Amino acid sequence: MAYDTIITETHGKVGLITLNRPQALNALNSQILTELVAAVNAFGADPGIGAMVITGSEKAFAAGADIKEMQSISYADAYAQDFFVGWEELTRARKPIIAAVAGYALGGGCELAMMCDFIIAADTAKFGQPEITLGVIPGMGGSQRLTRFVGKAKAMDMCLTGRMMDAAEAERSGLVSRVVPASDLVEEALKAAAKIAAFSLPSVMMAKEAVNRAFETTLAEGLRFERRLFHSLFALDDQKEGMAAFAEKRKPNFTNR
Ligand code: HXC
Repeated sequence: MAYDTIITETHGKVGLITLNRPQALNALNSQILTELVAAVNAFGADPGIGAMVITGSEKAFAAGADIKEMQSISYADAYAQDFFVGWEELTRARKPIIAAVAGYALGGGCELAMMCDFIIAADTAKFGQPEITLGVIPGMGGSQRLTRFVGKAKAMDMCLTGRMMDAAEAERSGLVSRVVPASDLVEEALKAAAKIAAFSLPSVMMAKEAVNRAFETTLAEGLRFERRLFHSLFALDDQKEGMAAFAEKRKPNFTNR
């Protein structure tokens, strides 16, 4: 499928999506949302794909929701359309998605990165929730996901002052999983995604589901959920294959069955 605001490529079993509105620093308008959701769903439905990477440009992952598109929206329309609810569709993806972030990840850009399963940051990355400077607040999960990632103190600091965090602070704070040189960003993210995509897809999907459950439920329920998923994996050929391969000192040949 042809897109105007994103570029999609496959690298082996990895789907790479590059946000591509350079004239607006990848500001997230309604078209980019529609196209991103379509691309993620298409890779999700493709049995040849095991993981995805979403990235932007060297200067900006995304500089936020498109301010020019939303500036004149009325309260009645925002409420009636449940403005921004469409972004939740991305969090329903069941295959892992890595955000590879260089440059600005601001407002909706930071929120998009946090909707992915983990963030690999270039040393040039800058994260922020500057909505307060526009007379609004985060609207795509910034006040909720950022708080879960970095805790109340830093989330309050970011949301109330609108200041940016650099990559080192973001890694220290638990927002990103690793920081790499900007020149290696996409390659490192593709490598991580290829590693994931080489594993048994059902176990990868269940690992994602189990970690995500930790954000939604109590410890006791989460532990029970994890154990039940763990038990269910013994129904798959890939569990037998993975453990046999270990015992036989060879590489496993997973079939996703
Ligand atoms: C629309 C944007 C944009 C955005 C940048 N542009 N960010 N357009 N929406 N979020 C456009 C600029 O208008 C400009 O277009 C072009 O991209 C280049 O940007 P510059 O500002 O000239 O670049 P620079 O001086 O390098 O500054 C980079 C920047 C700055 C610091 C990232 O662009 C900036 O502060 N952007 C806005 C960041 C922000 O507030 N994001 C949060 C949005 S609200 P022209 O045509 O002039 O060349 C949000 C959630 C809302 O995300 C949820 C609650 C409702």
